[in-house]
Amino acid sequence: MNLNIITHLLLFYSLSQQILELFEACQQQVSDLKKKELCRTLLQREIQLLFPQSRLFLVGSSLNGFGTRSSDGDLCLVVKEEPCFFQVNQKTEARHILTLVHKHFCTRLSGYIERPQLIRAKVPIVKFRDKVNCVEFDLNVNNIVGIRNTFLLRTYAYLENRVRPLVLVIKKWASHHEINDASRGTLSSYSLVLMVLHYLQTLPEPILPSLQKTYPESFSPAIQLQLVHQAPCNIPPYLSKNESNLGDLLLGFLKYYATEFDWDSQMISVHEAKAIPRPDGIEWRNKYICIEEPFDGKNTARAVHEKQKFDMIKDQFLKSWQRLQNKRDLNSILPLRAAILKR
Ligand SMILES: *[C@@H]1O[C@H](CO)[C@@H](O)[C@H](O)[C@H]1NC(C)=O
Repeated sequence: MNLNIITHLLLFYSLSQQILELFEACQQQVSDLKKKELCRTLLQREIQLLFPQSRLFLVGSSLNGFGTRSSDGDLCLVVKEEPCFFQVNQKTEARHILTLVHKHFCTRLSGYIERPQLIRAKVPIVKFRDKVNCVEFDLNVNNIVGIRNTFLLRTYAYLENRVRPLVLVIKKWASHHEINDASRGTLSSYSLVLMVLHYLQTLPEPILPSLQKTYPESFSPAIQLQLVHQAPCNIPPYLSKNESNLGDLLLGFLKYYATEFDWDSQMISVHEAKAIPRPDGIEWRNKYICIEEPFDGKNTARAVHEKQKFDMIKDQFLKSWQRLQNKRDLNSILPLRAAILKR
């Protein structure tokens, strides 16, 4: 479609229609996922030459239902098979494994992947680019929680029709305002998604339940990894009594974090489907934002460790809420034309 027509349409659409339009234009397509899946298969075959017992899993936004056309591919290499899976030390063992994988990629796959890089972070990764499909990948070792939470999020994504468009517009909004980058001390996409789920769970008439409490057997950490993806198949849609439209939900989300949520004393728990008092442990002391990881209970927002970044985040919630409330035009907080072009 001609861009001017798109712009024209977007200007006269209602806020809810604008959000849907953005979602339709930017959501990950089946063909995008197929390309990543193809790459995963090829890499798994290669890595099995080094570690015959290993398996490679696609995780994160490519598979959790909240991906966009430009989402990177996150991969998790599992080298010790269940049932007797044991933790790989990320500092020593994982780094060693990734060093071998990195070397292997450099020598065998230079025609297919570009710039493999070993990043020695707290959770080390190999970063590379699929030359054929132009997709960026991050590969970690045995970050098992990431596999489980991918399927938990995926189930939330498809449980209720409003969840995916709402998350997508909020991710785009956060990126536009530069508060969606954990490597720069702001919110990871994962934290943002949990914030949206939490908001939907805590409405007086909720739009989402706690899946882990309603279906404990489907999300038990005891489920074997190769079966984790089956759990979501048996869960029926959630029928909410709240008929609020997407525009009101976006406004409600901004308002909730701008004026209602108590950052200083509360922790977001998607597992409990409510805000709970912050625990006492060292992990939670002197933190600006506390968001409980649904499986291992760690703080997904620990990257926000500077007061200045925290203030920037809160400030953006407040300003955007005020602006959107006055204008009821998505363009007032997120220039749509640019967002759609970027996907
Ligand atoms: C439904 O959701 C809206 C947010 O868009 C919220 O303000 C309202 O309180 C909810 N309605 C009920 C009955 O809980």
